[in-house]
Order: sequence, then C-alpha cells, then structure tokens
Amino acid sequence: MKVAEHIKNLKPYQGGKPIEELKRELGIEGKIIKLASNENPLGPSKKAQEAIKEAASGVNLYPDGDCYYLKGKLSKRLGVERGNIIFGNGSDELIELLYRAFATGEDDEILYCYPTFVEYKIIGMSFNKKLVELPLKDFSYDIDKLLENINKNTRIIFLNTPNNPTGTIIKKSDIERVISAKEEDTLIVIDEAYYEYAIAEDDYEELLELYKHEGVILLRTFSKAYGLAGLRIGYGIANEEIIDYLNRVRPPFNVNSVAQAAALAALDDDEHIKKSVESNKRGKEFLYREFERLGIKYVKTYSNFILFDVGEDADSVYNKLLKKGIIVRSMSGYGYRTMLRVTIGTMDENEMFIGGLREVLNV
Ligand SMILES: Cc1ncc(COP(=O)(O)O)c(C=O)c1O
Repeated sequence: MKVAEHIKNLKPYQGGKPIEELKRELGIEGKIIKLASNENPLGPSKKAQEAIKEAASGVNLYPDGDCYYLKGKLSKRLGVERGNIIFGNGSDELIELLYRAFATGEDDEILYCYPTFVEYKIIGMSFNKKLVELPLKDFSYDIDKLLENINKNTRIIFLNTPNNPTGTIIKKSDIERVISAKEEDTLIVIDEAYYEYAIAEDDYEELLELYKHEGVILLRTFSKAYGLAGLRIGYGIANEEIIDYLNRVRPPFNVNSVAQAAALAALDDDEHIKKSVESNKRGKEFLYREFERLGIKYVKTYSNFILFDVGEDADSVYNKLLKKGIIVRSMSGYGYRTMLRVTIGTMDENEMFIGGLREVLNV
C-alpha cells in the first residue's frame, strides 16, 4: 500500500481500556476512578438525560445538518448571529476542519506553546504541517517568544486558555498583542474548552468579543462542564467568512441528533453548570490543601484538572495508582518526567485519589 511518510510516522491514538476490562486485568475488586480526561464527575444534567431518551426514537432520521434549534439558542445566549457559529463532532473536529480549510499551503507553519492540547500537534502531523512548538514559560504560554516566531508562513496560532495540561491562562491583553502582530492570513484559534470553569474565577477575562477580529476563532465545548463528552459536540465562534469556509469542508451530518438534543437541553440547565463549577472549586481547594500538606508541588489551575509534581518517575507512580484503581495521566510523554495530571473529581474520588497517592509515595 502506498502511504505517505508523514502518515507512516503517525502513532495511532491509544485510548484507555474500558473500566470493566481494566478491573479484570488488574484483579481490582473495589471501585475504579477515572480522573484522566477532564470530564465532569457529576455527569450530564438531568434535563440533558431526558432529552437524550426522547431523541432516541428519532435516530432513524439523519440529523439536522445545520443544528438549527441549537444554533438559535446558542446565538441568543452568546449575543452573536447564527452565521457566527459552527458546531463540530467535538471541538476536536473543528480543529481538524480549521487545518483542512486554512492550512493548505506547502510552507504553512502552525505555531503554539507546548505542552498544550496534543491534538494541535497530532492533527498537524496528519496534514504534514511544519509545527513550531515553543516551550511554555513557568507552565504558561510565552507570548513574547510567540510574537518573535510569527512570520509570513504562520497559518494557524493555537492559544489554549486555560491551557491543558497546565491549567494556566493567557491574559486578554496578551491575546490582543498576538492579534495585532499576526500576518493578514494568519488564523488565531482561542481554545476555551474549559471556559465554564475558568469564567467562575475572579480574574478570568471574558474573551468572546475577540471573535469580531479578522482571523480569530474561539472554540468551546459541551464535553467538559456540560458533561456531554461521550456525545461529541463542540462549537466555534468567528466572523461569517471563517464560518462559511469551515462549512464548506464540514461533513454534512457531523453532529448527531442525540448530541444536538442533549446540548439544547443542557443550555437550559444553568443550575447544573453552577453545581458542577462549585463542586470543582471545593475539590480544587481540597486537593490544594492536601498537596500542600504532603509537600507536593502543583500548578494553580483555572480548570478542572491539576498538574502536580511527585518528584519521582511519573510513569511508575501512574502504574502504582492504576493498580489501586485510580486512573490519572502521566505527563512524562510531554517531557514532564515527574509530573502527573489529575482531573478534579467528586469529593469521594478526590479523597480516594489522595489516599492512594499517599500510599504510593509513602507520605
Ligand atoms: C484544550 C482542549 N481543547 C479541545 C478539547 C477537545 O474537546 P472535545 O471533546 O470538544 O473534542 C480538549 C479535550 O480534552 C481540550 O483539553
């Protein structure tokens, strides 16, 4: 089979095993907790669950390819026109569509600081793009360095705020500096997957109005605070020209009907978001306190996960936690050899995680 070198060099995504399978393999009798993918531990809103059940009887029909009702509700909610919104099969798909629509030149460069959301890199590699990865500074985007690296070939700049996996944010004034400095044909992607958690913090600035700039798109998702990761639905907000081009490369039925119904109902359940954000805050304070008590360094987060430093081999700590039924994420693959990332769970999960960690680290 003739396959391009850059495709041969890709490594397939290694998904985690189903929890039941893991239990069997590791011989774990008790509970398993998954704190590895920054999902909402409270689950989806009850209203969304009802809508999912109702939508089930209609899945013989193709979904509404335009997400008509959802777009209407979201546009009112955000105060933007329908033409400024696009939905994707998760914001993952929108990242891919951005590459497909806008990074079509041979010399195109993709610019971001790293570690960040790894899909910018994986999708970029699948499109054989030149990836310009700059190191984070103190776990945060290094905007001065980023500005120095913008050139006429820079096609997409990914700004992730809060940044996964570090939880740090980029100041609005810094994003504005990037917008002012960019070349005319550069697209700036402001990925706010964790927006609902971040905006609950006093010093997180609302960035929505930045979509009005030429060449800027904001990405948000229903996968995190809304608790709908399994249904795959995210959205982008940009000027009509960008949305129009994205629609040209978008598969016609990219967002399934159950996801649309669930997201529509979830938008009506502000109480669930409030509860989720409050639970996250309590969990975060608990984990900060425990980390401090145990002398474990961590990075202050604006999100629903925390990056922490165990001062010893992260993979080994990861495996020992796994044997106790606690699934977190080792950051060794990002070059953080002694760091792991934990999703903030329910209080029971947080306590089980800290208990397991204390045993593994002997502290
Ligand atoms: C920063 C960031 N962007 C995008 C995504 C993708 O989210 P979705 O489930 O909407 O594809 C994630 C998921 O972890 C993320 O962390």
